[in-house]
Amino acid sequence: MVRVRTLKFLEMKQQGERIPTVTAYDYPTARIADEIGIPLLLVGDSLGNVVLGHDSTVHVTLDDILHHTKAVVRGSSKAMVVADMPFMTFQVSPEEALRNAGRLLQEGGAQAVKVEGGHRTAETVHRLAQAGIPVMGHLGLTPQSVNQFGGYRVQGRSYEEAARLIEDAKELEQAGAFSIVLETIPVELARIVTRELRIPTIGIGAGPYCDGEVQVLYEMLGLITARPRKHAKLFADLNATIRAALTAYVDEVRARQFPTLDHGHQLEPDVLERLQRHYRSRH
Ligand code: KIV
Repeated sequence: MVRVRTLKFLEMKQQGERIPTVTAYDYPTARIADEIGIPLLLVGDSLGNVVLGHDSTVHVTLDDILHHTKAVVRGSSKAMVVADMPFMTFQVSPEEALRNAGRLLQEGGAQAVKVEGGHRTAETVHRLAQAGIPVMGHLGLTPQSVNQFGGYRVQGRSYEEAARLIEDAKELEQAGAFSIVLETIPVELARIVTRELRIPTIGIGAGPYCDGEVQVLYEMLGLITARPRKHAKLFADLNATIRAALTAYVDEVRARQFPTLDHGHQLEPDVLERLQRHYRSRH
């Protein structure tokens, strides 16, 4: 089975076909997403908050992303798998970025990587693209810079910030990025960026005018106990479903209703009889 390639996303933009994207961190959910035809799976470093229980993505390591990328790749056969490059795996130098991105493709099995940042990341994007590594950019609220931003705030509200973001997006496209995530920016700014670029934009908290949308899977499925963010929608409440299932399980085990004899494995009658004869005689 051939996976979706970067060219497909360009075609989708040209044809006005939306690009639904989700984050993926594990084999079973990657499998479901792939089977229903989601073309792009992002092994995001939101893994840190959502799966590993960290308070930010800053703690996520290359090995964490590698480990989960392998599972997502095993669970999918059609979607393009994009592995996020964690904090400090691409900022030090383009050479180090190249080595680390190479591992995500060679060892992890990803088809592309994502890097956060605009102008300051453009040279690295260029080097990766030159080496044949498809790169997704990421602008706006880039969570790895949360300590610099001083919190998770909407980005690009002022004219200067907005104009810089548009120029950053153009620079990333020029550098060879095949798409750009726009996170938590005003709707109209996302619309301008999307119009200005040949490559597709994938929004999250950026309104309805991007070429695609990405959501954090465990958030949209209600697996995170904290309330979903403004831009997220609960498409299912798995938290409530799992709680109800576990409560029923605990109740049944305590009440000796589960497991029943039907869930057990029986001995052959002759074996049972011999066992009973032997052990009864010893008591
Ligand atoms: O890590 C992540 O999940 C992301 C998406 C929110 C774009 O970067």
